[in-house]
Amino acid sequence: MDPFSKFYEKTYEERIKLLKDYAKLSDDEIALLAKETNLSIKTAECLSENIIGTFSMPLGIATHFVINGKNYILPMVIEEPSVVAAASNAAKLSEGFLASADDSIMFGQIQIVGVKDIKKTISEIKKNQKNLINKANSKDSVLVSLGGGVKDVKIRKISTDRGEHIIVNLIVDVKDAMGANAVNSFCESLKEDLEKISGGKVRARIISNLCVARLAKAKAVWLKEKIGEETIEAILDAYHFAKKDQFRCTTHNKGIMNGIDALAIATGQDFRAIEASAHSYAAFKRKYSPLTKYYKDNAGNLIGEIEIPLAVGVVGGAVRTNPLAKLCLKIANISSAKELAMSMACVGLANNFAALKALSTEGIQKGHMRLHAKNIAITAGASEDLVDKVAEIMVKENNICVARAKEIISELK
Ligand code: MEV
Repeated sequence: MDPFSKFYEKTYEERIKLLKDYAKLSDDEIALLAKETNLSIKTAECLSENIIGTFSMPLGIATHFVINGKNYILPMVIEEPSVVAAASNAAKLSEGFLASADDSIMFGQIQIVGVKDIKKTISEIKKNQKNLINKANSKDSVLVSLGGGVKDVKIRKISTDRGEHIIVNLIVDVKDAMGANAVNSFCESLKEDLEKISGGKVRARIISNLCVARLAKAKAVWLKEKIGEETIEAILDAYHFAKKDQFRCTTHNKGIMNGIDALAIATGQDFRAIEASAHSYAAFKRKYSPLTKYYKDNAGNLIGEIEIPLAVGVVGGAVRTNPLAKLCLKIANISSAKELAMSMACVGLANNFAALKALSTEGIQKGHMRLHAKNIAITAGASEDLVDKVAEIMVKENNICVARAKEIISELK
């Protein structure tokens, strides 16, 4: 019998016992799994299934951000060296950020198949539009009372390899939420009505993560007196490389997402949705392109801009369940979804600026080295009290590798 059958029905203690036998875990390993951090097992069980522990990541703050005249410190959860330092440094070098964010408009999609008369059905759905909107909105009186809810319905036909389908798009204002729960509930609530009107079958009913009506934009200036004309030329060259070459552009956008994901995780956001949306938008009605752009102003200063769809929320979901996410929002002093989206756009731009600057001038490895060396020291088995010393010696020798770390550890012992 599969020992993991009905694993979800077991208590935490039963799960751990089973796992201990199955994976032959030592008492120390079990203690490590069971160690509660700032997320208790109980809370974790409210967020996901089959819980065996919680997983910690480094949490830092990016400093020096001035966005629309307000000072911010931005919490970032990331395991990669240099990202937090790079964002802070880029913000410090800038003259501050100007940012804006659209209203929180998300799209829900309802797929209808097997419709005999597509044209007639589309016109019938249009005729019933008001009723459909009211029916959906009755599912979330709280959101509606805040001015949100389904605002409009758009209908189109698509031709697929399995025939013609009707796609009903719900246009929803989700206000301060990320919106997936509300939008999915709205979509699901219309199944019976749409089947009755169309005579077809309603299949998929789900949010679209490509939220092109929920863009955040940010802009920053880096003065030539501060960063130097040669650096500006180098950054522009790197940007134009990304514009022309998809292999480079993917990495360019990855660097933007370093900062955005880190702030997203710290504040309890669905970072997979943010990732999906960002990369899809990078290729929306154009070839895959950078999410940022750079140019010089008349005085020769560098202007950087970012435009990115960001479905983020400050209510609902993990934002409120995970106490640390709540705390991070408090530390950032962010109180609305729009403000969070604007901050994320700024961090993305800052990380991208820092990456382009580093990789096209001194190279990115230099900045990475100190932390990278610590990682290598840990990998080589250095105890906590030796990590710094081992790393320091390797950096000095310019020889950062596990073999050398092992030698140093035994020399120091
Ligand atoms: C590394 O995580 C991110 C960079 O590769 C981004 C870039 O190349 O633009 C440095």
